[in-house]
Amino acid sequence: RCLCDAKGIRIMQPIVLGIETSCDETAIGIVRGRTLLANVIASSVDEHARFGGVVPEIASRAHLEAMLPSIERALKDAQISLSDVDAVAVTAGPGLVGALLVGVASASGLAQGLGRPLYGVNHLAAHVSVDYLTHNQPTDPTIALLVSGGHSSLLQVDDITGSITKLGATMDDAAGEAFDKIARILDLGFPGGPAIDREAVNGSASAIDFPRGLTTSNDWATRPYDFSFSGLKTAVARYLESTPSFVRADVAASFQEAVVDVLLLKALAACKSSGIDSLVIAGGVAANSRLRAVAAERCEKAGIQLRIPSPALCTDNGAMVASLGSLMVSAGRPATQGAFDADSSLKVEQVSL
Ligand code: KG4
Ligand code: ZN
Repeated sequence: RCLCDAKGIRIMQPIVLGIETSCDETAIGIVRGRTLLANVIASSVDEHARFGGVVPEIASRAHLEAMLPSIERALKDAQISLSDVDAVAVTAGPGLVGALLVGVASASGLAQGLGRPLYGVNHLAAHVSVDYLTHNQPTDPTIALLVSGGHSSLLQVDDITGSITKLGATMDDAAGEAFDKIARILDLGFPGGPAIDREAVNGSASAIDFPRGLTTSNDWATRPYDFSFSGLKTAVARYLESTPSFVRADVAASFQEAVVDVLLLKALAACKSSGIDSLVIAGGVAANSRLRAVAAERCEKAGIQLRIPSPALCTDNGAMVASLGSLMVSAGRPATQGAFDADSSLKVEQVSL
């Protein structure tokens, strides 16, 4: 059943409120069709910093505290009232189960109270869908490189509202996780991605030749679109041990280069073999300045149309959830029926519940 107005005409520019609580951001986004009206993010990252990683219990409690003020702030920014909202979307998974549950319960209450449909959507698909806010035309089919703190995968997106195929994924650490771990051993703090990005600016990307995981000819033949970062992590640790006079900026830049190189080698190979000349890069690591620059260079050379959301829309946010919700409404996809649970290990192929 599609979302219709009082005259039974399908709403093509729905106002959708999206709620994201899969990790440490309590994020509310509001869109009208593909236009972003509000994007409010309350992060509990400072409360986790001294533990060197996100503590689930702390994140869940912070979501509870931030939820209502964040919704109010978003409505104010969008200059609308609650009754203007046509549909509610929420991240149903994957993520930290306790954190997800706060979002799902809040969204269910809101949708029920307003008498509006509720869409439980996939966090990973939402990361990719935020790019669609910046284009008037549908951008599928496309290859998507999804690189975040919890996931790294290569996807073929034939329809962002319902047809996503996983071509490959990481066999060990996610790309963002590798950034976070290397930043920790370099004493650069948490979260590590932005810290390495900044440190690398003063270093040489070619100072140290770190390994590119899963790029032997056998790997290209058997698992061309999978990633592995554990060998790289070990190589960096060994290098630091055996080189007491190491230059931190050089290590950061060379490590970053190895990650960027292998991500793009595989993403461009996927474009080539699928014949799809469009690439979306999404997720927190897509905010990385070196990844953005090298991707632009290589895609231009290969004749591939590249799309990367603005850095603020790459890391977790509510606009991406609202965006996917809006695309679901416009595509006439059914809303999630009845009460549902968060699914901490929701597969990327399952765009919505
Ligand atoms: O998508 P995201 O906000 O959360 C998850 O869904 O995981 O991604 C967070 C990850 C963290 O590992 C963080 O270190 C990484 O994205 N990240 C970056 C940058 N900004 C965030 N990695 C490299 N360079 C950056 N500029
Ligand atoms: Zn994310």
